[in-house]
Amino acid sequence: MKIIITLVSFVALLAACGGNGQKTNDSKTPATKVKKVDGAKIYKTYCVTCHGLYGDMGGSGAFDLTTSKLNLKERIEVITKGRNLMTPFEGLLNEQKIKAVAKHIETLRSE
Ligand code: HEC
Repeated sequence: MKIIITLVSFVALLAACGGNGQKTNDSKTPATKVKKVDGAKIYKTYCVTCHGLYGDMGGSGAFDLTTSKLNLKERIEVITKGRNLMTPFEGLLNEQKIKAVAKHIETLRSE
């Protein structure tokens, strides 16, 4: 009888340890998988050279983004395909990143 009780508690202990180990692993996985696309960061990396930090620099004849009237879809189009002196970004940024930066430049508008 004593042996059985010892065995049962030993198995219970093992199961508890195994279960805990798995739980900590599971809770870690989603946190490391989620990657946020930061439109402001993309803008600072790819767009400031011509548009400037506040969108109104106008380098290489760049459009003053603070007065831009384009809607989100039109901006995505310009950023993806380029326009005149503006280089297309479809080879540099994926769709998600282009959308994020197109949303970000809305915050540069003066009105
Ligand atoms: C090589 C310089 C250059 C870079 C880099 C650049 N642009 Fe431009 N951008 C321009 C020029 C020049 C125009 C005006 C195009 C024209 O005359 O048709 C323009 C126009 C635009 C327009 C159209 C504005 C409107 O209302 O018509 C948007 C939106 C825009 N750029 C966003 C961006 C974003 C976002 C980035 C970064 C991902 C970027 N640009 C990077 C030069 C640049």
